[in-house]
Amino acid sequence: MKIAVLPGDGIGPEIVKQAVKVLDFFGLSDAVDYSSIGGAGYDELKDPLPEATLKLALEADAILLGAVGGWEYDKLPRDMRPERGLLRIRQALNLFANLRPALMFPELIHASSLKPEIVSGLDIMIIRELTGDIYFGEPRGISLNNKGEQEGVNTMRYSESEIRRISHVAFKAANKRSKKLCSVDKANVLESTELWRKIITDVSSEYPEVELSHMYVDNAAMQLINEPKQFDVIVTGNIFGDILSDEASMLTGSIGMLPSASLDENNKGMYEPSHGSAPDIAGKDKANPLATILSLSMMFKYTFSDNDKAERIEGAVRTVLSQGYRTQDILSENMSLVGCEEMGDKVIEELRNV
Ligand code: IPM
Ligand code: MG
Repeated sequence: MKIAVLPGDGIGPEIVKQAVKVLDFFGLSDAVDYSSIGGAGYDELKDPLPEATLKLALEADAILLGAVGGWEYDKLPRDMRPERGLLRIRQALNLFANLRPALMFPELIHASSLKPEIVSGLDIMIIRELTGDIYFGEPRGISLNNKGEQEGVNTMRYSESEIRRISHVAFKAANKRSKKLCSVDKANVLESTELWRKIITDVSSEYPEVELSHMYVDNAAMQLINEPKQFDVIVTGNIFGDILSDEASMLTGSIGMLPSASLDENNKGMYEPSHGSAPDIAGKDKANPLATILSLSMMFKYTFSDNDKAERIEGAVRTVLSQGYRTQDILSENMSLVGCEEMGDKVIEELRNV
């Protein structure tokens, strides 16, 4: 077993450190190899995805990523920016299936800005296609058009095979849950998503037990706020998934709690918290490490098919919450404030107890 650990930028290193304690607890210290990505990669080797990092990631069975990005890199040429490292590793490893759960932890119900009755028990899985769409479509760029005016171009593109493979992932996920799948598109306006709707409808004949519905993305954005519990599994393209997954995470009010998985065809995966690098609190021992620790739980479940470890990690996190420990992002009245390091220690203590 080989796990590439890429701490990245901002709070990345401190949250990853807590997750690595969990790997140590399971006796997996020797499986871990570190490398740099994002701004850290640029600082070290002038590349947001250094060759050595890509090599390590290609050789590993799974990757644990902290976060990338920081103000100091915002003025770099686009190819050198931290985000570019992330997009390149997704593409190089063919991590086309991005699983982003939005799960309401009962202890944190008051962290949501929506009324408790709207969000209690919320459990949505957003499946975002991650290696196609307008993120990678060609042509792209900024150039002069024939009127001599600057013009920015990006291309929204989906091939049938790309749509088919993400559709299968989504139907299989729906099959294991409530057997309801909602595909989100903009088929009334955009041809690439008209094809999306056609292909996923075609694939649905292979999964007769799953009920497939379609929703336009603007309506989906509205319904997520209006009546989020109507959703179970949502599948959508790269750009819509980027936006809707941020929206869905906010329903829970605690983005610091949400993990994610990006998988290839063989369930090799990159696991990372859904939140960003939070440079404003970096290095202050204030970050919430639970999303990163829960990302390990997803790693054991999806890549290593080790449900026992996955459930032990999730159980430990839930117990620590029920004991009242909170980092500042999820703090409420009468709860005990802990820092990043201490939150990690609490999870380990709990793992030891069960
Ligand atoms: C995400 C992020 C990335 C994306 C950025 C950092 C490139 O927003 O993972 O959702 O747009 O995919
Ligand atoms: Mg995003």
